[in-house]
This record gives sequence, C-alpha cells and structure tokens, in this order.
Amino acid sequence: MSNEKVQIKVNDNGSYRVMGDVELIDADGNVFETKKVFSLCRCGLSSRKPFCDGTHKGQFDSCVRAEKVLKDE
Ligand code: FES
Repeated sequence: MSNEKVQIKVNDNGSYRVMGDVELIDADGNVFETKKVFSLCRCGLSSRKPFCDGTHKGQFDSCVRAEKVLKDE
C-alpha cells in the first residue's frame, strides 16, 4: 500500500472529491472501478451513486470548513 496520503475535499455545494490511491467498495466488499481522482455524491441526488453526476448544481447548499487548530511549536 502506498504511503501517500489520500485527500478528500469537501466541495462547496457539491461532491466529495477523492484524490489518491484508494479502493472504493460497496457493502458486500465489491470494488467499484474508479480513476485516480473521482467525486462522490454528497447531496443524495445523483443517479450514479455513489458517484456525483452533477445533479447537485443549483440544488444543494452546503459550505463547510474545518476548524483551524493552532499547533504548539
Ligand atoms: S454531490 Fe453531485 S450529484 Fe450529489
């Protein structure tokens, strides 16, 4: 397994953008075919779940930010 960190970006008003070497499986353990970068539906409206198909555009409002944590030096 790669040591490179997988990143998941929470897009404003849209999908989760997954970047990196990751395996996406269903509840039975079957593997979805994915690319190195892909988007997962966060709005629940996609007809291609678990992937985003763009249906969220103009129909989903959610802008979230992580709290900034100040680290001790
Ligand atoms: S987030 Fe894109 S269709 Fe749901």
